[in-house]
Amino acid sequence: MTQMKAVVLTEAEGPGSARLQSEPRPEPGPGEVRVRLCAASLNHRELWISRGQYPGMNLPSILGADGSGVIDALGDGVDGLNVGDDVVLYPARDWGTNEAYPSDSFCLLGMPIPGTLAEYLCVPAANVAPRPAHLSHAQAAAFPTAAVTAWRALTVKAAVRPGDRVLITGIGGGVATFALSFAVAMGADVWVTSGTASNIEQAVALGAKGGFDYHDEAWGKAARKASGGFDVVIDGAPAGAYAAYGRAIAMGARIVIYGSTQGPFFKVNAPEFFLRHATIHGTAMGSPADFSAMLDFVAKKGITPVIQASFPLDDIAGAFDALQDAHFGKVVVEIAKPGSAT
Ligand SMILES: NC(=O)c1ccc[n+]([C@@H]2O[C@H](COP(=O)([O-])OP(=O)(O)OC[C@H]3O[C@@H](n4cnc5c(N)ncnc54)[C@H](OP(=O)(O)O)[C@@H]3O)[C@@H](O)[C@H]2O)c1
Repeated sequence: MTQMKAVVLTEAEGPGSARLQSEPRPEPGPGEVRVRLCAASLNHRELWISRGQYPGMNLPSILGADGSGVIDALGDGVDGLNVGDDVVLYPARDWGTNEAYPSDSFCLLGMPIPGTLAEYLCVPAANVAPRPAHLSHAQAAAFPTAAVTAWRALTVKAAVRPGDRVLITGIGGGVATFALSFAVAMGADVWVTSGTASNIEQAVALGAKGGFDYHDEAWGKAARKASGGFDVVIDGAPAGAYAAYGRAIAMGARIVIYGSTQGPFFKVNAPEFFLRHATIHGTAMGSPADFSAMLDFVAKKGITPVIQASFPLDDIAGAFDALQDAHFGKVVVEIAKPGSAT
């Protein structure tokens, strides 16, 4: 049986438990394509998974939700795709037919089903989209999970309009950096928070109006003064942040929560919230329709991802270290050059 290299988590004792090993190369079933991966990227999710802090753990598992590569084999019954097509992968399966939320069988690549930190992966044909022409494989691989989450938060949930004042928390994160690029491209005025001054400087270079250090207890007051009140908040760490920005939201504010980096619980001052007629939305990932709309927007606006660092597949430990360190943007794993022999 032909073998391939893959990053496999066999026990959930932290990122060091993810090891590069030899695995059987998968064969495409009916309706599937096999993708030879050129690049993948990491998300905070891989840290949760490596520590066993993820629902539906299924060990051992090949990690990684995000990938870009070249179709190298077609299963029976696949139409409209060809060997050699450059594709980027939708990172989940079974969203279902309801655009409002996914079906019960919705799941992501890289847990519980095999993921993209491998030389080859088989997915349903509907899971691949053409790679936007202005992006390399490494750039395209940075998008899927973080970008579709940011896209759905800004569009389906917050319905951002030009001129909206948008606050994005923890700007160094992958989701947050895409939210910044997209919101700026939508014509919004964006402010950010970070624990790192250099991240705020980089956000300003990407079009943010300014930023606030969330270690400073008075940051919410400064944020209200600078913005005049936020119409939209995109927040991946409400336990640390909500109490500070709760008084800095505008009338009719839309707050979108997509993560819990600082812990699961946060307090809401009820009068501050209801007297402003505010709404809190929860969001997680996005549907195939969201993914397609996001890629169209990215192609139309020529958006490129913020990549903190790239590592070869052989140095997966270095990639995980970079994800755990303070960073700005995505950590990419380079797997193969297009057209190269395995
Ligand atoms: N709902 C979904 O579909 C979905 C999808 C993707 C991710 N997520 C979740 O969203 C979160 C971020 O994921 P990611 O992959 O973008 O993470 P990431 O790239 O690992 O970034 C995490 C970021 O959190 C920020 N942070 C740390 N402490 C903070 C605090 N006290 N207040 C505000 N921000 C803080 C840091 O930004 P600074 O260094 O700039 O401070 C850091 O860069 C995770 O909880 C993840 O599980 C959810």
